[in-house]
Amino acid sequence: MSKVAIVTGGTRGIGEAISLALQDLGYKVAANYAGNEEKAKAFTDKTGIAAFKWDVGDHQACLDGCAAVAEALGPVDIVVNNAGITRDGVLAKMSFDDWNEVMRINLGGCFNMAKATFGGMRERGWGRIVNIGSINGQAGQYGQVNYAAAKSGIHGFTKALAQEGAKYGVTVNAIAPGYIDTDMVAAVPPQVLEKIVAKIPVGRLGQAHEIARGVAFFCSEEGGFVTGSTLSINGGQHMY
Ligand code: CAA
Repeated sequence: MSKVAIVTGGTRGIGEAISLALQDLGYKVAANYAGNEEKAKAFTDKTGIAAFKWDVGDHQACLDGCAAVAEALGPVDIVVNNAGITRDGVLAKMSFDDWNEVMRINLGGCFNMAKATFGGMRERGWGRIVNIGSINGQAGQYGQVNYAAAKSGIHGFTKALAQEGAKYGVTVNAIAPGYIDTDMVAAVPPQVLEKIVAKIPVGRLGQAHEIARGVAFFCSEEGGFVTGSTLSINGGQHMY
């Protein structure tokens, strides 16, 4: 029977590419989204992948959302924690709300999704959790104490949960993308982005499908001996 995968933030950007890559592996995919109904509908019409709406920062919504996916597609074997937001600004200008929303969604979302699905994976003796971290969680980034802290937290979360999942056949890994050609990166002021791209050795932004390829490997049967690992896909911008 084909595996069931949930991709959070799975209808746009990197998440959309991941949903498609997992569909290509023959998995039944559910793409979670939080807000953009129009884009989600267009995504489902184009791909045939069902979209499910909930806020990953809301604990109960994750429990209910994952139960709804299980009801529709079957028990959840794979979770890709991709959903994330930015609220950039230097510390002096960052509000508590900017801090808290990024922590609640980017890091809290990983906890909430794992709580909803890890137990079932463990019981069935097979599971894959892939968390999307960031180069900025590894190296830090001016104007991103919230995002860098949350993404760095994701890398720690990954290594801790990997230790808990290993003996039950559940692998937990992370990808640390660099600057990828998405709406999120397009929101960086052009003069700032130009300086960042100048520091990427391969000389360009990454593409969403280049991240999805790494996720597909972690989620494959062949990836079973890889756990607690972080794969940096950043064009050589940060060698960690
Ligand atoms: N290092 C050192 N100094 C820096 C700097 C840096 N990287 N970036 C800016 N500064 C300095 C500027 O030179 C400027 O100095 P002066 O006042 O002396 O001229 C000062 O900081 C203020 O800079 P800004 O005019 O840019 O300040 P701002 O308040 O308008 O904006 C900011 C600050 C919001 C942080 C803006 O610089 C910015 O958006 N930076 C990009 C942050 C970034 O890379 N975000 C990544 C988003 S994509 C993502 O997160 C995905 C992923 O995982 C990679």
